[in-house]
Amino acid sequence: MAAAHDLLLSLTILLISALSTADDTCRAVPSLGDVTVLPQRRDVYGSGGRTIYDITHRYTPDMPAFESADGIGDILKLASSMKNGSFANISELKLSSHTGTHVDAPGHFYDEYFDAGFDVDSLDLDVLNGAALLVDVPRDTNITAKAIESLHIPKGVIRVLFRTLNTDRELMFKKEFDSTYVGFTEDGAQWLVDNTDIKLVGTDYLSVAAYEDLISAHLVFLKNREVILVEALKLDNVPAGIYDVHCLPLRLIGAEGSPIRCILIKS
Ligand SMILES: *[C@@H]1O[C@H](CO)[C@@H](O)[C@H](O)[C@H]1NC(C)=O
Ligand SMILES: *[C@@H]1O[C@H](CO)[C@@H](O)[C@H](O)[C@H]1NC(C)=O
Ligand SMILES: *[C@@H]1O[C@H](CO)[C@@H](O)[C@H](O)[C@H]1NC(C)=O
Repeated sequence: MAAAHDLLLSLTILLISALSTADDTCRAVPSLGDVTVLPQRRDVYGSGGRTIYDITHRYTPDMPAFESADGIGDILKLASSMKNGSFANISELKLSSHTGTHVDAPGHFYDEYFDAGFDVDSLDLDVLNGAALLVDVPRDTNITAKAIESLHIPKGVIRVLFRTLNTDRELMFKKEFDSTYVGFTEDGAQWLVDNTDIKLVGTDYLSVAAYEDLISAHLVFLKNREVILVEALKLDNVPAGIYDVHCLPLRLIGAEGSPIRCILIKS
């Protein structure tokens, strides 16, 4: 009897303390973490033998934009601001869907595909995620048939990220667009489509196609709607080799391009 009474008493105390805690929580102003500590911005994460490389470029006003001398400018606007009495800070984003690290959908260069709805939401996540090879392209050439042949990429490799002279020249960190960037020539794109199993092509500047072959190389790649193009990857300080790549575009219905977050995982 006494034991049952004790149990009832302690349950009651528990209940009361739980209720008052809940009440306190409702009224209390949450205490902030230490805001004098600078936020960490990292490109490499990892623990327990696993390393994650973020191969996405940061969006800054000085990031280059295709054929522009001025960079992407202010793509973020604080539409509602606490300093101006709003209940929260709320930003708006306005940008070309081909800004920074991004993906191209077939509709980018084929109007028929655009009209038929082959947008970024229709891209195959199975191609955008999985085992991938990061290779170094010889630095004295565009990605021509000869250059890609010299890389001896084995059959069965589906995802390849091509690091080029663009990374050495740090072109993605230069505000002014540089049309002398390295990319695929038309014959390089054709060689890849005809002779390899590659379905995910990644490069390190704003276009996978060299400037002089801008349209023709894109047309070769996108024609069969099998190859997915990821552009402006951040490939500095990542060792060449085999990884798991994860690339996720936004589900923008009707868009022929999308910003994309890409990471490489080495376990
Ligand atoms: C945004 O919100 C924070 C509080 O989270 C506030 O201190 C700050 O002043 C706001 N910034 C602007 C520009 O309103
Ligand atoms: C607050 O409002 C004023 C007046 O509309 C505007 O000039 C200012 O830029 C706003 N500030 C922010 C942080 O939104
Ligand atoms: C690559 O091609 C572009 C023209 O599209 C050219 O300006 C550039 O010099 C070439 N780069 C190399 C390394 O051959």
